[in-house]
Amino acid sequence: MLKKVLFVCLGNICRSPAAEGIFQKKIKDRGLEKSFVVDSAGTGGWHVGNLADSRMRKAASARGINLESRSRQIKQIDLYEFDEILVMDKDNLEAVKSLIPDALDPVNSKIKLILSYSKKTNLNEVPDPYYGGQNGFDNVLELLNDAIDGLLESFID
Ligand code: 4NP
Repeated sequence: MLKKVLFVCLGNICRSPAAEGIFQKKIKDRGLEKSFVVDSAGTGGWHVGNLADSRMRKAASARGINLESRSRQIKQIDLYEFDEILVMDKDNLEAVKSLIPDALDPVNSKIKLILSYSKKTNLNEVPDPYYGGQNGFDNVLELLNDAIDGLLESFID
């Protein structure tokens, strides 16, 4: 069955496009492209229409991942369109949940911190690399690579 996965961060130019690119590469490598729809979005709209940050594109490209998505802002309908909504940090979690009209709405259970799928780190949040150096971008890719392995396992098992 087709599974629809949405990755969410603040600007949709660093962490969530990287998660989208990693996820796409892993499903392609496994011949599972037809089983998934994958997308990413930001809780903020400042960068709408922009490609991912050049520092993240460089770090991803060094790992064989081309980031081609353009930033877009999450909208309420996304909560109903997607089956799983993976957020990078607790601020994103609050911002996404604030779009739900009713606190008891079952869509609440679709929204999760991406690192809850990680096996290698005790961190709960993917750090925002925007105001830091290049190594912050590599660190984000490392964290996401592991978490997305766990996420895919949860779908396949
Ligand atoms: P992202 O990183 O949420 O991982 O895309 C950021 C991008 C832009 C800004 C903050 C974080 N900003 O303040 O413009």
